[in-house]
Amino acid sequence: MSTPTKAQGAQKMAELHLDGKVVRLPMLHGSEQEGAFDISDLRKETGYITLDNGYGNTGSCKSAITFIDGEKGILRYRGYPIEELAVKSTFLETSWLLIHGELPTRSELDGFVNDVTQHTMLNESFSRFMDALPRDAHPMPICAATVGALATFYQQPESEQSIRDSVIRLIAKMPTIAAAAYKHALGQPFMYPRNDLDYSSNLLHMMFATPCEEYKVDPVMAKVVDQLFILHADHEQNCSTSTVRMVGSSMANLFASISAGISALWGKLHGGANQKVVEMLELIEANGGDPDAYLARAKNPDDPARLMGFGHRVYKNFDPRASFLKECCEQVLSRLHANDKLLEIARRLEEVTLKDKYFIERKLYPNVDFYSGVIYRALGIPVDMFTVMFAIGRMPGWIAQWLEMRQDPAFKICRPRQVYTGATKRSYREMAKR
Ligand code: CMC
Repeated sequence: MSTPTKAQGAQKMAELHLDGKVVRLPMLHGSEQEGAFDISDLRKETGYITLDNGYGNTGSCKSAITFIDGEKGILRYRGYPIEELAVKSTFLETSWLLIHGELPTRSELDGFVNDVTQHTMLNESFSRFMDALPRDAHPMPICAATVGALATFYQQPESEQSIRDSVIRLIAKMPTIAAAAYKHALGQPFMYPRNDLDYSSNLLHMMFATPCEEYKVDPVMAKVVDQLFILHADHEQNCSTSTVRMVGSSMANLFASISAGISALWGKLHGGANQKVVEMLELIEANGGDPDAYLARAKNPDDPARLMGFGHRVYKNFDPRASFLKECCEQVLSRLHANDKLLEIARRLEEVTLKDKYFIERKLYPNVDFYSGVIYRALGIPVDMFTVMFAIGRMPGWIAQWLEMRQDPAFKICRPRQVYTGATKRSYREMAKR
């Protein structure tokens, strides 16, 4: 590709010189001046496609929802810095912001909170649905299956109203589904939601209360959960969000698309990492508490072990969510008077890693999952449920991205191409000749 800019009217163009032909690629700039070449017509004009394993350089859409500058450690929802929202907003207000693009007025927020509160119950048949699943099932596939199954209960043809209803139902029912998945593993009866509690307190109630004993929700702890949900609420075109868009692009309904997103989030390189962080810290503790041996494994290219909770495809300086959570973590532990061994190991691991040549060279810093795991553990949330907590928080982001895609005038089914590397044409060989 040659020197990129050439004016053609107001549109800047990049030039690609190929086999004696000049192909002009329109250049675009986002509202934060991040640049892109539009290659939509490349194949039509040249017969070539672009190859980008893992999509590290591929923009799959234009989006006005979330801005990330990985080099500067910036994350903003609809222009609002994440750190400000985590301190001043609530999860439901942030959900509205992500979905509608603006902060709600008082009456909009009251209406939204009321709608969510009125839709938290699950159809009673779900207790039989979950009964069919093994007690030791991981709660993530239980949640994915249950959210997918919501589509069988709400089968109205797609309309603005039915989509609005689905949005409310998903945000409202996700904590109920999450708590039910947890209770299923314990063999305890499901707890009904309580309409007098706020969103996060209600989740804690459904997880930790029993028919025999009320659970007194600590408002400070509920606030921390709410903040964690805000920090997780969106992260532009990550693996699970791209999955939600991909599935939704076939015109699959919202429940089916979100169910696929939950499955994508489960993987240990994505949302599953917070569980893996605690398992890694426990392993280090079991081996005497010195992180060096594990660090050596993480640096060894022949060992599959990675330092969980470190590194990020986008953040190459620091993850702003991790910085916020580090402080949050200290506060939670001191409030709970928890002298947590794992936090000590986590602190030491961070300290050593930030000075280590291997991690410095590769720009590997703690990510959101590093401290969220320690906080969830201190709050008494079982390790298996960490990724489920992430999924509850990510719900409004998935929804906002799905809606944005469906309303995009450039909407089309997502269908990448490939560079085929298999066998060229050959004739079928009879069994006897193989
Ligand atoms: N520990 C040890 N080495 C690492 C790590 C790690 N956590 N992360 C990356 N590297 C090395 C990797 O081996 C490679 O080294 P080399 O150049 O010598 O081959 C180099 O750093 C680049 O790694 P990469 O795999 O090409 O980077 P990526 O952008 O594809 O992967 C990542 C990003 C998050 C999958 C990866 O950093 C990782 O596996 N981290 C641990 C899992 C984790 O914490 N995931 C949560 C991500 S945050 C939540 C979310 O948004 O999903």
